[in-house]
Amino acid sequence: MKSVAAPIPADPDVVEELIGHIRNRTTELTESELRVPIEHFVSPARAAAEMALMQTLPLVVGHVSEIKNPGDFITRRVLNTGLIIVRRADQSVGAYRNMCRHRGGIVEPAESGNKRAFMCQYHGWSYDAQDGGLKRVLYQDSYGEIDYACSGLHQVRAEARHGLIFVTLRPSNSVPAIAEYLGPDVDRQIAPWNLENALVALDKAFVRPINWKLVMDGAIDPLHPQFLHNRPGGVGARSVTNNSVFRTWGRHGKMFSPRAKLKDLVLSGEQPSASSKYVGSVMLLYPNALFVEAPEHVEFWTVWPTPGNPSECTVKIRFLVRPEVSSPEMTARLNKSWGILEQAALEEDFPMEMKIQENALALGSGVFRYGRNEKPPQHLHRQLQRDLG
Ligand code: FES
Ligand SMILES: [Fe+2]
Repeated sequence: MKSVAAPIPADPDVVEELIGHIRNRTTELTESELRVPIEHFVSPARAAAEMALMQTLPLVVGHVSEIKNPGDFITRRVLNTGLIIVRRADQSVGAYRNMCRHRGGIVEPAESGNKRAFMCQYHGWSYDAQDGGLKRVLYQDSYGEIDYACSGLHQVRAEARHGLIFVTLRPSNSVPAIAEYLGPDVDRQIAPWNLENALVALDKAFVRPINWKLVMDGAIDPLHPQFLHNRPGGVGARSVTNNSVFRTWGRHGKMFSPRAKLKDLVLSGEQPSASSKYVGSVMLLYPNALFVEAPEHVEFWTVWPTPGNPSECTVKIRFLVRPEVSSPEMTARLNKSWGILEQAALEEDFPMEMKIQENALALGSGVFRYGRNEKPPQHLHRQLQRDLG
């Protein structure tokens, strides 16, 4: 049996700050309270503007382990856009619209597989899996002239970094390559998890009648665990409320909160090590992904608004596991971890967020308020506001 690898170290400066907040009974503060119009959670016009914005940003749609070998592909529907995502012979990742250049038929109906070519289901035009180029048109003689060079599948910008597959549906000039989009600080946070080689140990999706931003808010909300997750042994008992730190790195950011163990050690006068086992964290990969560090794995969330419906979203949760900690014992720990998350998210967070959505729909106006001690969700809403102008 493989031995369990050491926990990933936590940033010592963050641990120092958390210890200070525990001792002083403080938390990181913003300059002011933020008020977000309730309309932003229920209005079709606002939802359409957010959708248009998201189409111009890199979004995480999968993990490289889903397309290991050259010719492997997966199909995905991302914000109403049908995509085929492929592994090329040179190991790079490519993406095309799953849409024939003849008259728009889908060229690949399967969810995954391995192919050299994709053939349209309508009249049989076929396309090279490696570059999306048009390969063959049936009855070409009687069809008429075709310019093969400009009849390939529509290319979609795709790039894998840290094993995460990013696509940008409508790239704009202002969105840089993924390394630059994430920036060196976010890179440094993700790198130790060796996600290129990670195993996807769990992959689930939940459709809920909730605006996508309420799910994001809930996941990076530093104040609610003590109240909403107050069952014995639940999330509230494991974390400390209102002693948190939030680092912003460009559009992204990361919330750090002490685990209950850290508070116990500090209050008993000990000097704890800078280990991630004492710190809970959630990183926001703007706009809609969350990187939640458990001691030995990463819970990776993506939250997808339903196009045309501000009051619905799909939450996708994957557990990414470092290969070096994979073992039967680890599987048991992952199952336990899923049990805790399932209770917190499915039985506590989502039902509360559904009620908030109902309330927002019923009132339709007014504001939601984010206090000075609620920096992480403030950051998300301020950044959306900056991007939407
Ligand atoms: S629509 Fe694809 S071959 Fe006609
Ligand atoms: Fe929660």
